[in-house]
Amino acid sequence: MKRTLIDYKIVAEKITASGLKSVGTASIREIKKLVDEIEKATGEKFIRMEMGIPGLPSEIIGVEGQIDALKKGVAAKYPDIHGIPELKEGISQFVKLFMDIEVNPECCLPTVGSMQGSFASFLMLSRLYHHRDTTLFIDPGFPVHKQQHRVLGRKFESFDVYNYRGEKLREKLESYFKTGLIHSVLYSNPNNPSWICFTEDELKIIGELATKYNVIVMEDLAYFGMDFRKDYSKPGVPPYQPTVAHYTNNYILFISSSKVFSYAGERIGMMVISNQLYHTRFEDLLQYYPSSQFGYAMVFGTLYPLSSGTSHSAQYALTAMLKAAINGSFNIVESVRAYGKKAKVMKKLFTDNGFEIVYDTDIDQPIADGFYFTFSYPGMDAEALLNELVYYGISAISLLITGSERLEGIRACTSLIQPEQFGDLEDRLKRFKADH
Ligand SMILES: Cc1ncc(COP(=O)(O)O)c(C=O)c1O
Repeated sequence: MKRTLIDYKIVAEKITASGLKSVGTASIREIKKLVDEIEKATGEKFIRMEMGIPGLPSEIIGVEGQIDALKKGVAAKYPDIHGIPELKEGISQFVKLFMDIEVNPECCLPTVGSMQGSFASFLMLSRLYHHRDTTLFIDPGFPVHKQQHRVLGRKFESFDVYNYRGEKLREKLESYFKTGLIHSVLYSNPNNPSWICFTEDELKIIGELATKYNVIVMEDLAYFGMDFRKDYSKPGVPPYQPTVAHYTNNYILFISSSKVFSYAGERIGMMVISNQLYHTRFEDLLQYYPSSQFGYAMVFGTLYPLSSGTSHSAQYALTAMLKAAINGSFNIVESVRAYGKKAKVMKKLFTDNGFEIVYDTDIDQPIADGFYFTFSYPGMDAEALLNELVYYGISAISLLITGSERLEGIRACTSLIQPEQFGDLEDRLKRFKADH
């Protein structure tokens, strides 16, 4: 039996009992369950980096706004599917002041988390043209988006952007768009899992090609404002959260409130459709919807049958938070900066102990410190490394499930780790290094 930090016998037993073939290829939720059980059986607290959940309390302004709305009786009433007017106005002002883009309130919709926004979009975008049946993912990416495609029975293609940064992105993207089969493209920025952030030049390439080939860009801004190398926190003052919306009118933005407002539990997000796309007519939509107009079909043909709108009280919560961000009484970046500070320390602990950062630059700049980072250990692939780290009380996920081609890569999420655990993390990494 090996001498490991966490009781070898118990870990091995729990892995066998879980029925998992390998920890290294398990999904996020499977790893969570396994580690919960090992922690319970051993009494040892793991360094838990597997799940991307907020590690901060919800914005109190939102909580109070929601309680007020509930007390006023909104729970008894169905919300309008397209959202309450105050929220639509708030989203429109928010994107103007924090992204410098003009979108009419009409085209700003609340969704049941950004997850519903993407699901609804995948449904519709695959029906815009009968001859275009494929979504393109610029990977690595969020595995649930692919799961959404699978349950919808929709096709997708993907490529790892690692080797296609900068001008190289143009040719790569164009090779897909030229096939005539791609209706839309999706990426997250900052990127989950790699935390790369596209440069303005890259966003321009994506935007220009989207216009040229009439492809819709879905920009997933789940980590809005969290490239802490720049300060995107001042309403109406540059720099602004970078966006493809400056380079094309073919866009849908998904702005989650889960991370930036730590409001994951109430399941509310924003879907922002460009004014032009919202009003564009696609004749092929008539096969499924009463109207060929994109925005109308999204609201009354897609969001209606999915959930008939978004929680009424959560809409008031989000309205209150946006209002505070807009009038400057709440700083959206300061409240989440702790993630970046933790990442800086954690990355150093890993690299001081022989680990390497996998996605390490944005072309010529070191990658930002944020919600996630990626790491590897020389001579080990991700599966072997994850399997081994569990015995040292460290849990994370493999990049293999994110569409990454970096077979050695692991994603670490900083959100749940508390500074008091840094000492433990350091000891465990040192011990790992000594044993390997
Ligand atoms: C890239 C990305 N998109 C979307 C989501 C889901 O956001 P929401 O909680 O608003 O559904 C997440 C959550 O982790 C994410 O990382």
